[in-house]
Amino acid sequence: MVINVKASKSYDIEIGRNLLDKIGEDILSLKSACNVCIVSDDIVYPLYGDIVFKSLKRAGYNVCIFTIEHGEKSKNLNTFSEIQEYLASQNFKRNDLIVALGGGVTGDLAGFVASTYMRGIDFVQVPTTLLAMIDSSVGGKTAIDLPNGKNLVGTFYQPIKVIIDLKTLDTLPCTEYKNGMGEGIKYAMLMDNELESIVTNGVTCSTNVDRFVELCIRYKKYIVEEDEKESNLRRLLNLGHTFAHAIEKLSGYTIPHGVAVAQGLKIISDISIKQGKLAQCAYDKLQTLLDRYDMHIDEDYSLEQMLEVIKLDKKAEGEYINVVMPYAFGDCRIEKIKIEDLIK
Ligand SMILES: NC(=O)c1ccc[n+]([C@@H]2O[C@H](COP(=O)([O-])OP(=O)(O)OC[C@H]3O[C@@H](n4cnc5c(N)ncnc54)[C@H](O)[C@@H]3O)[C@@H](O)[C@H]2O)c1
Ligand SMILES: [Zn+2]
Repeated sequence: MVINVKASKSYDIEIGRNLLDKIGEDILSLKSACNVCIVSDDIVYPLYGDIVFKSLKRAGYNVCIFTIEHGEKSKNLNTFSEIQEYLASQNFKRNDLIVALGGGVTGDLAGFVASTYMRGIDFVQVPTTLLAMIDSSVGGKTAIDLPNGKNLVGTFYQPIKVIIDLKTLDTLPCTEYKNGMGEGIKYAMLMDNELESIVTNGVTCSTNVDRFVELCIRYKKYIVEEDEKESNLRRLLNLGHTFAHAIEKLSGYTIPHGVAVAQGLKIISDISIKQGKLAQCAYDKLQTLLDRYDMHIDEDYSLEQMLEVIKLDKKAEGEYINVVMPYAFGDCRIEKIKIEDLIK
């Protein structure tokens, strides 16, 4: 299946199984033979690197590889400059290509490198985690972290193609699967309709996952086409994220992003129901989903602790912050709220 995104660049997202073996031919329809650097991590490359490497070679590309250490700790300025220097040492020019093979860390980092090397070279996203498939590989946000916080340096830069091979989910550990489902529950709350019933019925790597990934991407495509640079509508995708970022930071980033998002959904729903906004049935439905996917954490941070962190959030504007307030499944609204009022 192919979904086309018409943002500042128009590109296809291909979703299917066993796509890695024909990735070379696939890319050849967009770009003639050139230098290609596969950027991947030290867990994903041993699993899928060889098949991608051989396919690109067969198609006539001159291929090299840059492997990073897996995990968020690699999404930094050091790794960024190491890749840039590697590309220069391999004589990469403006018409060459980067293929990002891995989760959101690889995609964000390789995308940022692609957007800045020689003022921008093409890149292809090949996401291999559920989170990267439904979220980070689509929409063109690239970033690296600074010691002061996550994603503080980055660009909006669309790939020339996204290739989603659902077969790669077979090797994804359960904890990472759960991480993706945190964002999945967020989409269900934003969208209502079919996605909500699929998530309620259960998504595993063998059940419902094809349709689940497709629906999440279709929703993100709609948002990105309307508001690529997040001046308004795209902010909806931050549902649950204000508190999620605070929880991630307070836990020293030991609580993964998707799980923190699920907690963030719970907290903003608690606030919304107390303000008489969220309908009780929607609140109950969310609790059922959080239970179903075991999204509970042991840590219990107070609202006061979280608000201290939220005040430093890059989305905070003085005493105010824009939050996405849920009213019902399929009815979430962007509201500017005084940070202190969140606690009241
Ligand atoms: N750009 C965006 O719009 C956007 C959106 C959401 C999240 N993000 C970013 O994405 C990152 C998180 O992404 P993530 O959760 O994919 O993390 P990740 O890239 O660290 O991957 C998680 C782990 O799974 C392993 N892995 C990946 N694919 C595998 C597979 N098929 N089989 C076995 N192991 C596999 C990786 O090696 C890693 O250890 C964060 O940095 C976050 O800021 C970006
Ligand atoms: Zn997120």
